[in-house]
Amino acid sequence: MIKRTGKIGIFDSGLGGLTILKEVVKLMPCYEYIYLGDNQNTPYGNKSQDKIFNLTLAGVEWLFRNGAEIVVLACNTASANALRKIQREVLPVRYPDKRVLGIIIPTVEEIEKYSKTGHIGILATKATIESRIYEAEMKKQNPHIKIFSQSGGNLANLIELNNKVEMLTEINSVVEELISKNNLIDTVVLGCTHYALIEEEIAQILPKHIHVVSQGELVAKKLKDYLTKHVEINIKLSNLFSLNFNTTSDSKHVQQLMTYFYGEKISISMVKI
Ligand code: DGL
Repeated sequence: MIKRTGKIGIFDSGLGGLTILKEVVKLMPCYEYIYLGDNQNTPYGNKSQDKIFNLTLAGVEWLFRNGAEIVVLACNTASANALRKIQREVLPVRYPDKRVLGIIIPTVEEIEKYSKTGHIGILATKATIESRIYEAEMKKQNPHIKIFSQSGGNLANLIELNNKVEMLTEINSVVEELISKNNLIDTVVLGCTHYALIEEEIAQILPKHIHVVSQGELVAKKLKDYLTKHVEINIKLSNLFSLNFNTTSDSKHVQQLMTYFYGEKISISMVKI
């Protein structure tokens, strides 16, 4: 008989993944969740692919050691730069029964539904943009959709620091650059989970006809579909709801921001990975 003790792990470089966790919990308040934010090493978006891979793998392995059977990389930068290598080279050798999922393919599968013109802007970190993964995956999904990608500059870092003044200046500059790429863009995807934390501020600066899409709800729905299809994983997951928050940073400020952004009083542990 299989013991149903497994958890769902959610990983991000910092605070952004909370926007995914929140929606997943809202849709499926029936599992044990363990969140890890690598706030000590954030931002990942301007690091090399090797560095992003090593940090992401360390986070995933920490989640596995702490009971996760399945881990969602709630981070586009990690999904773009580490997921494939983890799935192909690490899991089959070291963790053949565990799973790691990303959030880019689920997003690409959904975003064309939001656009009438088929011209979609992606706002993401430098490392995600440079990987060209959104363009490549969209080409497979629907080659008629045009993707215009734009780096969000220092935004993820400013969100971690909660520096509102510089944040607004940065939003203005990156949004202007993005929409000047093509005047048919009618949908902008927040392809960095951190940006969902400032979705309102971004939407206010974008022209009103442009639809802003963040990933939380769609990733939650895709995860639910995945668990329904993959009974071999689902059967190992505990069905007693609980939430466990962890960060690699020892700063009180980070812990306060986690509470603030999650929107509930939560208790957070500081961990070494
Ligand atoms: N939250 C991350 C993402 O979705 C990365 C932010 C960063 O660490 O640069 O891309």
